[in-house]
Amino acid sequence: MSSLNEAPIGVFDSGLGGLTVAREIMRNLPREKIVYFGDTARVPYGSKSRQTVERYSRQIVRFLKTQEIKAIVIACNTATAFAIDAVREEADLPVIGVIEPGARVACAETGNGRIGVIATRATVGSGAYTEALRSLRPDVRVIEKACPLLVPLVEEGLLHDPVTDEIIMRYLDEVLENGVDTLILGCTHYPLLRSAIRKLVGDSIRLVNPAYETARSLAELLEEKQLECTVPRSADDPSPYRFFVSDQAERFAEFANMILPIDVSMARLVRIEDY
Ligand code: DGL
Repeated sequence: MSSLNEAPIGVFDSGLGGLTVAREIMRNLPREKIVYFGDTARVPYGSKSRQTVERYSRQIVRFLKTQEIKAIVIACNTATAFAIDAVREEADLPVIGVIEPGARVACAETGNGRIGVIATRATVGSGAYTEALRSLRPDVRVIEKACPLLVPLVEEGLLHDPVTDEIIMRYLDEVLENGVDTLILGCTHYPLLRSAIRKLVGDSIRLVNPAYETARSLAELLEEKQLECTVPRSADDPSPYRFFVSDQAERFAEFANMILPIDVSMARLVRIEDY
């Protein structure tokens, strides 16, 4: 094993939502270090075109590579849907996105072969989930639904609120009418609505959290490439987790402190257009 094993994982998202993926990596791979980049100046990606998201993602990869990372996690469904090939090409490192891991579990868990996917407009428009699911199990029926209002509701902290419940139900009605037994939470923010969604859909529907599945797939990938960190984190390592953003560093740190199991004292600003 080389010192590359102790290098951090580069994790990126359009903004705050990818912290749900970072959180699962922290919980499930506690030895791994993380360099997180949130593109808070250019969020949301969910309403942008493929070309734009590809360009942004390439810039982020170029920045992350200055941080001597050993692998990249695209902790954003939209960036995975539009830009995973561009990221692979640019990175020249092991790369994993959030779509394949979620699709794999949904295919394994569905009983009736009907899978719902809720996501941003861009992710739904790309058809990436349907493609991933069908390539694993050609017999599944996939019902995708764009839920553009859910990201702002989460960012406003309205996780348990009648307004949020009402909007979730409006979106989910159509998905549920199709008799799905499995629902993929295909946007980084939606795992934060998991308990609201669970309350509304009842216990009979399996909810797939791609953030958790991605952390599991990352562990497999690191093992396969013999890149896993083998030494326990030393107590005097001042910064196993580093955070960078393109704008609004304070707001980012506040949100991070709400959802991460660690204290985030600050995030550093990066002029991402320069990369
Ligand atoms: N991170 C995005 C995703 O998972 C949601 C926020 C955005 O639209 O940028 O698709």
